[in-house]
Amino acid sequence: MNDMQTEVLQVDPIHPDPTIIARAAELLRSGQLVVFPTETVYGLGANALQAHAVEKIFAAKGRPHSDPLIAHIADEHDLEKVASDIPTIAWKLAHIFWPGPLTLILPAGPHIPHVVTAGLATVAVRMPRHPVALALIRATGSPIAAPSANRFMHVSPTTAQHVLSDLSGRVPLILDGGPCTVGVESTILDLCGDIPTILRPGGTSLEALRTQLPAVQPPTRRAPQHKERHDEQQALKAPGQMLIHYSPSVPAFLFEGTSEMIRATMLTEVQRRQAQSERVGILIADEDLATFQESGALIYTLGRTNEPEQIAVRLFAGLRVLEESGVQVILCRSFSEQGLGLAIRDRLLKATGGKVFPA
Ligand code: TXA
Ligand code: MG
Repeated sequence: MNDMQTEVLQVDPIHPDPTIIARAAELLRSGQLVVFPTETVYGLGANALQAHAVEKIFAAKGRPHSDPLIAHIADEHDLEKVASDIPTIAWKLAHIFWPGPLTLILPAGPHIPHVVTAGLATVAVRMPRHPVALALIRATGSPIAAPSANRFMHVSPTTAQHVLSDLSGRVPLILDGGPCTVGVESTILDLCGDIPTILRPGGTSLEALRTQLPAVQPPTRRAPQHKERHDEQQALKAPGQMLIHYSPSVPAFLFEGTSEMIRATMLTEVQRRQAQSERVGILIADEDLATFQESGALIYTLGRTNEPEQIAVRLFAGLRVLEESGVQVILCRSFSEQGLGLAIRDRLLKATGGKVFPA
C-alpha cells in the first residue's frame, strides 16, 4: 500500500492559512486521511463519524483493530457528539484542562462507529491545544479520530519528518506545523470506573489532575511483559499499556538510581559493549555530558534533569535520532517522576521493554 503520493504542506502553527486547512478538511470529509500536528505528537486523522475512513487508519499504521482511537473535538460542548451519560466531573475537567493534553474515557455515544472504540462501550475524547488541529476539526465539521502518526509499535512522531519516515506513501497529506511543543502524548483518564484512574500518564500531570480530582489514581505499575504475552483480553482492558508499545528498532536499556549511580553504571556498560566492538548510543541529561564526552558513545542530550518539559519535548526525537544513527544498543538514563516525569518514565519503560539496570 506504499503507492500513494504523500504531499507535505507547511502550515503556520499559530495562524494556519485557511486555504490549506480547507483543503485538508475537504480530504477528511471525502473519507481520506490527513496527518496534522497537535501539541503532544502528530496525529493520523480520519473523519470519526465515517467508519470506512477510520478503517484506513488501521491499514496505514499496521495497527490491530483491538486498539481503539481517540476522538478529537474542537469545543468542549462537542463532547455530546461522541459521548453519552457525561458525568459532571467530565464537564469540569474539560472546562479546566481543555484545550490540552488530557483524554477522557467516557461512555460512548450512539453515533460513534465501532471501529473507533474497538467495540468497547467507552470512547476516548480530547480537545487538543494546537491551532492547526482545532482549525482542521472545525473546518471538517465533525470529530477527527486520530492515533499518533507512527507505524504501529514505533516511537510517536513529534515532527513532520518523523511522520514521513514512517508513513510516506501511506497517506495523501501531512500538515507540517513544526515540532510539537509538549512531546509526549496526552494523559488518558478513565472516568468510567468506580475510581477515576490514569490509564496512560502524559502531558497533563497527575499533580495537576489531583488539584481538581483528589481521588484520581495513578496508573498501575506493571511487571515487564512481552509481546507474546500480550493477549487480546489485556488489549481490551488497557489498550495502550503494552510495555513494548513505543519501541525503537534497536534494543534499549533504562538505568535507574541516583545520578551518580546512573553515570557510573552507564559508563561501565558503554565501555563493556565498546570493548566488544558494539556501537552504543546514549540518551542522557545535560548534567551527564561531562562523564560521557570522551566515552566514544553517540550522545543525545535531553535537557536538564529538573526541566521535565524540555526532556519530554526532545525524548521521542532522541530515540529516533539514535536508532537511525546505526547504533546497536541505546542506553537511557531515568528521571524523577515529578510532573511530566511520570510520562517520561512510562515512555522510557516502554521504549526499553522494561529492561532496567540494575535489574
Ligand atoms: O496525545 C495524544 O493522545 C495523541 C494525539 C494525536 O492526540 N494520540 C494518541 O493516540 O496518542 P494513540 O492511538 O496513539 O493512543 C491512544 C491510546 C491507545 O493506547 C488506546 O488504546 C487508548 O488510547 N484508548 C482509546 N480508546 C480507549 C478506551 N475507550 N478505553 C481505554 N483506552 C482507550
Ligand atoms: Mg500511539
